[in-house]
Order: sequence, then C-alpha cells, then structure tokens
Amino acid sequence: MSENDAAVQPGREAVPLAKAAEVLRRAQHATAFTGAGISVESGIPSFRGADGLWSRYNPDCLDIGYFHRNTEEAWRVIREIFYDFFGNAKPNDAHFALAAMERAGMLHAVITQNIDNLHHDAGSGVVYEFHGNSRLLRCLQCNGTVPAAECDLRILPPRCDCGGILKPDFVFFGEGIPEPAQTLSFREAERADVMLLVGTTGEVYPAALIPREAKRRGAIIIEVNPEHSEYTSTVTDIFLQGKAAGILRELAKLLGVWQRPEPA
Ligand code: APR
Repeated sequence: MSENDAAVQPGREAVPLAKAAEVLRRAQHATAFTGAGISVESGIPSFRGADGLWSRYNPDCLDIGYFHRNTEEAWRVIREIFYDFFGNAKPNDAHFALAAMERAGMLHAVITQNIDNLHHDAGSGVVYEFHGNSRLLRCLQCNGTVPAAECDLRILPPRCDCGGILKPDFVFFGEGIPEPAQTLSFREAERADVMLLVGTTGEVYPAALIPREAKRRGAIIIEVNPEHSEYTSTVTDIFLQGKAAGILRELAKLLGVWQRPEPA
C-alpha cells in the first residue's frame, strides 16, 4: 500500500473514521505509536499544554545531571508525580482498542513513549517502551532492578540491597534510549505500511523520528489527537481529531474487533 492509495487523501483533515478503518483493514504491517495523550483519559496528565505536568512541576527533576546532584529533592517530585499521583491509573478504552486490534491480527506492535505500563495492563503483547517503565527501579551501583511496588518510598532516596541508590527505570532528559526498545522501534518504522499515532506532540527526539522514518519508507500515517501536533501538517495522511478513547473504540468497532475486558 502507498500513500497514493485511492483510499487516502494526504493532508486532508477530518477524513471519516471509516477511511482509517479501511486503511487498517488492508494493512500488512500496522504499528501504533503512542504518547502521553492516550493516558489522559486514565487520569494521567500529559507533559505539555495548559494542564500538562510541566506547567506545575520543574522538568529539571527529570534531568539526569540534576538527579545526580539533587537526588533526594528530585526523588520527592518524582514520587509525587509518578508513584503517589498516578501509580493506580487503569487503562482506558484507547488502550483496550489497541490490544483488541493486536489480538485480531490487525496491529503488529505498540511503540510507546509512555512509562505508565498501561498498554501491558490492557493486554497488548508486543510493546516497545521507548522511554522505559516507571514500575521498575534500577540500582545506580549494581544495575539490578527492583519492582517499585516492593520499595518503601517513604524514605528517600530508596536504596538497593547492595546499598546503591535506586532510580526509576525510565529515561531522564540527558540519558540514552534503552535497548532493545530503540532498535526494535526503528525496525517497526522500517516495516510498517500503516502507523497509527495517538496523543503525541512529536516534540521530543529521538522518539519523534519514528513516524517520520515510517513515512519516509512509505507508510500511511493515521493520527488521533484533539489538537494539531508537529506531525499533522508534515506527515499525517488521515487526521482523526478528538480524544483517543472514543475514537479508537469506534475504530475497533468498525473493524469488528472491539472488546473491553470485564472488570475483575
Ligand atoms: N486523546 C488523545 N490525545 C490527547 C488527549 C486525548 N484525550 N489529550 C491530550 N492529547 C494530546 C495533546 O494534544 C498532545 O498532542 O496528547 C499530546 C500530549 O503531548 P505531550 O504531553 O508532549 O506528550 P508526548 O508527546 O508523549 O511527550 C513525549 O516528552 O517529556 C517527555 O518523556 C516524556 O514521553 C514524553 C515525551
């Protein structure tokens, strides 16, 4: 399939959902690329924008140099945002829709910039976590990992059994992207003939290169976002304007795969 496919009208906004469903139905290798916006309806604020985390907190607390210099202070902010505040978030219908599409063989993988584990919680099997995961802490001394849930975060910084300081196992500003997530994500970008972008501004690199690489290789780009992003006028072929949960639920229904697990 190519971007010149008759079903696609590059750059045109508000192309009906049915068109996106048609493209996904015909895809050989569809991949999703998600950002903070997919978790907003799970109660997790995004980073940027008027209500974003960076309007309330200093992003320096996630700078690796700052963390090393001011470990306890940085940890206090990190605990509040990532562990007290949204540690109990549950997946929403957008996460469930992607998992249902994967089960039906219509989606190959999810590449996510999110660290909240909600794609796994929703049942997605192939998830590349480009920025790591907040549910593990990694020791700066022995490099071992410990589940955050098993750590007492009342005393900061938390420490490993070896005595080393534990750091959340997600990527701070100034750190590299973990392997194999980086290699596997760019491999998806090479192979995808359709990429479904959900809730991301496209302002953070190198993650922002993934949809651009997919586009360069000929993939059709479908974007779900209530607002225009850096992608909308540059790589997006089909722009589905709106919130992720409603749009992806409808898309999954159109594809005949919609399924939400019964609450436990
Ligand atoms: N549904 C879909 N998209 C939404 C919703 C929603 N309900 N609400 C907001 N959005 C969109 C916003 O319009 C915006 O485009 O989600 C996007 C969130 O953007 P960012 O906060 O910049 O998140 P993201 O692009 O994932 O950030 C990338 O930046 O700080 C780093 O490491 C952090 O992984 C993060 C990276």
